[in-house]
Amino acid sequence: MAERPAKVFHRPVMVDEVLEYLQPKNGTIIDACVGGGGHARAILDFPGSCRLLGIDVDPEAIASARRQLANLDNVELVHSSYVDMADIVRSRGLEPVTGVLMDFGVSLHQLTSPERGFGHDIAGPLDMRFDRSASEPPAFELLRRASRREVLGWLREYGQEPFATRIARRISERKDRLKTTEDLAGLVRSSVPAHRARRTLARVFQALRIAVNHELDNVARGLDSAIGLLAPGGRLVALSYHSLEDRLAKLSLRQGRRAGVLDVLTPKPVRPCLAEVQTNPAARSARLRAARKTVPGPRR
Ligand SMILES: C[S@@+](CC[C@H](N)C(=O)[O-])C[C@H]1O[C@@H](n2cnc3c(N)ncnc32)[C@H](O)[C@@H]1O
Repeated sequence: MAERPAKVFHRPVMVDEVLEYLQPKNGTIIDACVGGGGHARAILDFPGSCRLLGIDVDPEAIASARRQLANLDNVELVHSSYVDMADIVRSRGLEPVTGVLMDFGVSLHQLTSPERGFGHDIAGPLDMRFDRSASEPPAFELLRRASRREVLGWLREYGQEPFATRIARRISERKDRLKTTEDLAGLVRSSVPAHRARRTLARVFQALRIAVNHELDNVARGLDSAIGLLAPGGRLVALSYHSLEDRLAKLSLRQGRRAGVLDVLTPKPVRPCLAEVQTNPAARSARLRAARKTVPGPRR
């Protein structure tokens, strides 16, 4: 019997651009969202002698990265949130940190695994947690406990959803019956005109995912930690997949520049080339921003 091709865990985005801005040569490079280890592999294959600290909050990602990087010995993989990267680096003596890559968002594996509950077009429990081993509630439980006002806030703030009021009202009326992705997708579809359904579904699922995982708070804290940890001359590369993440990256870099600790290397976000978007449509929304930690000059 023919062997089924192994399921791809994730296809790393803008690999050439990541390497160009990260310039991984020596010291420790932190891959703060190591996922399936695609970027990590490319970083370790880049000529130089860096070691890599790969972090991911999803134990399935760490297991996959471990397989992907199995034959390499200059790698440490840690199941944790990138919010805690400073503690991880210090407790393992991994200074100096010469680069940090933050590839925000969701992996293909998370999006397409039915039991993870991320996809509005894939039937499964309405879970959406990056880390199912943590005590945080899954999406259906969060909705069950939330007030209509809270749901409305998430849909507006995290989904920028035009039908937020109507959808929040319907969610709060039916919250005890929303257990699966199909339950929520059905509710959304019946709340908006048919031609608006697909985009609305994407926005509502994105909003809920951000709320379940406290994503924006984590992104802001993670960027701060990364900037604080970088050695002089070290580089930060952030890949965002929606405007809320990209805005946080832009603000952090701008603040760093104003405080005199960063040189911004990308005046505008860098986008993937057409050929990449054609071969990997998941790359189409990617925006890359990069900065270099300033090197303090001699005091006069
Ligand atoms: C787009 S994927 C990264 C893909 C990876 N660069 C690769 O080449 O396979 C984003 C990853 O970030 C992880 N993630 C999300 N929030 C996190 C957090 N607070 N700390 C660490 N990892 C996080 C997700 O679990 C997911 O695996």
